[in-house]
Amino acid sequence: MSETFRTLDDAQVSGKRVLLRVDLNVPMENGKVSDATRIERVLPTIREIADKGGKVVLLAHFGRPKGGPDAANSLRPVAAAVSDLLGRPVAFCPDCIGGVAASAIAAMKDGDVLLLENTRFHKGEEKNDPAFASELAKLGDVYVNDAFSAAHRAHASTEGVARLLPACAGRAMQAELDALTLALGAPARPVAAIVGGAKVSTKLDLLGNLVAKVDVLVVGGGMANTFLFAQGKAVGRSLCEKDLAAAARSILAAAKSANCRILLPVDATVAKEFKAHAAWRSVDVDNVGEDEMILDLGPRSTAAVEEALGGVETLVWNGPVGAFELPPFDAATMAIARTAAKLTHEGRLKSVAGGGDTVAALNAAGVADDFTYVSTAGGAFLEWMEGKVLPGVEALRAK
Ligand code: 3PG
Ligand code: MG
Repeated sequence: MSETFRTLDDAQVSGKRVLLRVDLNVPMENGKVSDATRIERVLPTIREIADKGGKVVLLAHFGRPKGGPDAANSLRPVAAAVSDLLGRPVAFCPDCIGGVAASAIAAMKDGDVLLLENTRFHKGEEKNDPAFASELAKLGDVYVNDAFSAAHRAHASTEGVARLLPACAGRAMQAELDALTLALGAPARPVAAIVGGAKVSTKLDLLGNLVAKVDVLVVGGGMANTFLFAQGKAVGRSLCEKDLAAAARSILAAAKSANCRILLPVDATVAKEFKAHAAWRSVDVDNVGEDEMILDLGPRSTAAVEEALGGVETLVWNGPVGAFELPPFDAATMAIARTAAKLTHEGRLKSVAGGGDTVAALNAAGVADDFTYVSTAGGAFLEWMEGKVLPGVEALRAK
């Protein structure tokens, strides 16, 4: 896919002021970055531009400030973290537009790195206000977007400015687009998708899009309960969106006409309490007690998913299949993660996973590195899986 997007290979950066949009919306604890994955992903792009003699001007948002400066959402502490990981100085500028930004950039030498303050401190950012986008564009000669995880937002720093300057994808964005193409754009078939998570309501578009695209669709997590209920099964006190039973049935019908095989749980691990190490048992989905909750796939369902993975070429995964944050109800998610990792490692499967909970689960299983690609994007990965157009990606499309 990267051939349909402009990349750093198509850009002239030497001696140029390069506006590099990155996603530095990283978790912080006590003023320190607690998970640096997003920073690590963009280091190669920063290094490449700097080493080619570009002036790297980092643009990013942080948190959801209400359109004015607020100390709690300052990117200043993140500049230090980027500098530590990069092993080079990263200067910080307390505004992302105006005289202060212009002079900070004018003082840069080729190869220097500067982080501008949170773009969301200006109301024009989220409104994609053309005046604000042109204030940003004034500061650079070239625009590079390495923030796939913010590409579902049509904001000035992700979309507007890309229309005003020569624009291309950075290396992390390029890797992400390549992986997404591999997973759903032009995948090796058969292709399976695993969709989990608590609620059907948040994933209706996703399921609708997937049944038309994949050969096997595994539905797990709390959302599977709604499907079981829609098929007339008693789900006890399980999480279940009863008002979505009709929607679930229409997804099943759509899958049938698209020749997509849907794997629903046939057995489950159930408990009477929603807590770690609650007393549990495995039951057939026809035998869930009135006072029980389905908290994970049972062993037969887990084995069925693992067997299905053995028969496909490609896997795309979003959402844990059980209450993975509460052991032992993480068992099925862990087992499936390990099987997918093993098949990938053996060259028998291409595996792409994304979404915050999914990444946490893969990390807990210790297998994230064995997947073909793990996306750090949450909302953007989901919208892409829903088949939606991502404005930040569209703006990089080669014309
Ligand atoms: C994210 O963390 O999901 C991205 O940085 C986008 O942030 P947002 O959801 O606040 O737009
Ligand atoms: Mg988000």
